[in-house]
Amino acid sequence: MIHFLTGTYAVFQPEEGRDTAPCELDLGCGKGRFVLDLAARFPERRVYGADVMIGRLRKVAKKAELRRLANLELLRADNLELVAFQLPPASVQRAHLLCPDPWPKERHRDKRLVSTDFLCRLRRVLVPGGILHLATDHDPYFTDWLRMIGKLPFFVRDDAAIADVADLRTDFELIWLGKGKTVPHMAFRYVPQVGDA
Ligand SMILES: C[S@@+](CC[C@H](N)C(=O)[O-])C[C@H]1O[C@@H](n2cnc3c(N)ncnc32)[C@H](O)[C@@H]1O
Repeated sequence: MIHFLTGTYAVFQPEEGRDTAPCELDLGCGKGRFVLDLAARFPERRVYGADVMIGRLRKVAKKAELRRLANLELLRADNLELVAFQLPPASVQRAHLLCPDPWPKERHRDKRLVSTDFLCRLRRVLVPGGILHLATDHDPYFTDWLRMIGKLPFFVRDDAAIADVADLRTDFELIWLGKGKTVPHMAFRYVPQVGDA
């Protein structure tokens, strides 16, 4: 099922009865290989795939139907709005942001999703101890993440927290691996600090 979230008017609430299941969120799920495999691997969890491109989401929805993945829901939403106000607070156990658009040109830098602002807002939806899983093929973006996150005391590196999905690949990752690039993954645990809401 695809839920359409727009601006501040759609705050997403999981169906009653399902809201206690652990939640995995794929931010920018694209063609869906990762989120589909994730939902198949953890049928007892709620798995959300979010993307702005409705055409991609429709294709993912079809594949989910064929694979009978009843625990996967798709959100047509903007990643920043999703974490800033559309998802309930402290509702996500693990957020995956895999191969987001790197916007490599200097003049497009502002379009990048991962910023200190985004990382601070992400705290709102993660449960205490929740995980942020990141991957990119773009070395400068990777270095930027390490620099930014290194300054945020509420994210502590914890790569062991993604060991159970280390064999899953995204569609973009496969393309880059096919071209001989490396796609490093890393994970950070959200450790609330005094004063965090
Ligand atoms: C480079 S693709 C990666 C897709 C997938 N994660 C993968 O690795 O195959 C980036 C995806 O993020 C989506 N996207 C870009 N900006 C977004 C935003 N602000 N909110 C939600 N999705 C976004 C794009 O539509 C695209 O599907």
